[in-house]
Amino acid sequence: MSKIKLGMVGGGKGSFIGEVHRMAARLDDRYELLAGALSSDVNTAKESALSLNLDKKRSYSSFDTMAEVEAALEDGIEAVAIVTPNHLHAQVAEAFLNNGIHVICDKPLTSSLADAEGLASIVKDTGLVFAVTYNYSGYPMVRQAREMIQNGDLGELRVIQIEYAQGWLATDIEKTGHKQALWRTNPAKAGIGGAIGDIGTHAFHLSEFVTGLQVKDLLADLDSMVSGRELDDNANILMKYTNGMKGMLWVSQIATGKENGLKIRVFGTKAGIEWSQENPNFLEFSPLGESLRTLSRGGPSIGSLAGDATRIPSGHPEGFIEGFANIYSDTADLILAHRSNSKTNSLVPTINDGIRGMQFIETAVKSSTSGGVWLSLGS
Ligand SMILES: NC(=O)c1ccc[n+]([C@@H]2O[C@H](COP(=O)([O-])OP(=O)(O)OC[C@H]3O[C@@H](n4cnc5c(N)ncnc54)[C@H](O)[C@@H]3O)[C@@H](O)[C@H]2O)c1
Repeated sequence: MSKIKLGMVGGGKGSFIGEVHRMAARLDDRYELLAGALSSDVNTAKESALSLNLDKKRSYSSFDTMAEVEAALEDGIEAVAIVTPNHLHAQVAEAFLNNGIHVICDKPLTSSLADAEGLASIVKDTGLVFAVTYNYSGYPMVRQAREMIQNGDLGELRVIQIEYAQGWLATDIEKTGHKQALWRTNPAKAGIGGAIGDIGTHAFHLSEFVTGLQVKDLLADLDSMVSGRELDDNANILMKYTNGMKGMLWVSQIATGKENGLKIRVFGTKAGIEWSQENPNFLEFSPLGESLRTLSRGGPSIGSLAGDATRIPSGHPEGFIEGFANIYSDTADLILAHRSNSKTNSLVPTINDGIRGMQFIETAVKSSTSGGVWLSLGS
């Protein structure tokens, strides 16, 4: 099978997640990066393309031109990675989908639910692959948790506690011109969600991915703790899931000193589990009436979902890049299945997961601005 020809929009010098996407795409040798509109700044776009050894002719100053020109090339790209700020995701994705090019888009899906729904109808009409990089679902021990829950190892699920705590926005660093903080705190670019859009959507997706349940109703209390900030930087959210499971989600970017404290705990009638992204190779398992066990990635009695997502033996740590690469590799399977007009089962987060993320943001904001009331997701 030939490698998948990949393009990228965003991800130029000085940006964050584009480089991670490139590493993730390289890890399993299933993609080759051939084209890019890598920056909003023409010179940075050119310099970035040069440093990545892209053909000069395939470094574009506009994503619209890139979509049209690449679609017409014999060896044009088959898929594009979108790693721009949120407000551009919908228009960039639309340009590539309308030119027959698969999309790998970072989260949140768009900057509004209306844009997300418009995009979903294009995805449906074109039948193209659309992956959303909710990358935490790529970690082997997250997949192990999902498999154990599916197998009934936890019994009936009762309680879920999730937190995603960061501290990098504990002061108004956006006022210093910090590139990533500037757009994340600007509703015109981030959308109506601050921390809940940026990292809350990851936690929300993780909760549904691991449990196989969906959030039905939520009650949110959002705050902007840093004076003058327009969007939320701290949120406490109560959630009710489809089977009656109760959940609490704490999302914060003002948790002073915290780095990437994403943690999930699920408790059922037979056992509990706990996983933390800063120590991702292990999963705590606490069966009723037995001692707490720590399950290790690659260790004995690990299921096939985690096994298939593992590259190296236990004791050699795998982490963020490998988890991200699992999303890329699984998306490659979908693209190859599309090439051969066949179907394959997949764990890749889809446009529907992206839509749920947008419903989560909009419902949480509505609940909070209404004084903290229970609302159905998407109401
Ligand atoms: N999955 C994750 O873990 C994760 C982590 C960080 C960011 N993200 C998401 O990735 C996206 C990018 O975040 P970031 O932190 O890398 O942002 P960033 O500000 O570091 O980079 C954004 C890039 O987009 C480029 N850009 C802006 N307008 C453009 C245009 N019109 N054409 C081409 N390029 C353009 C910028 O020049 C820059 O290179 C956001 O949607 C964010 O939510 C996801």
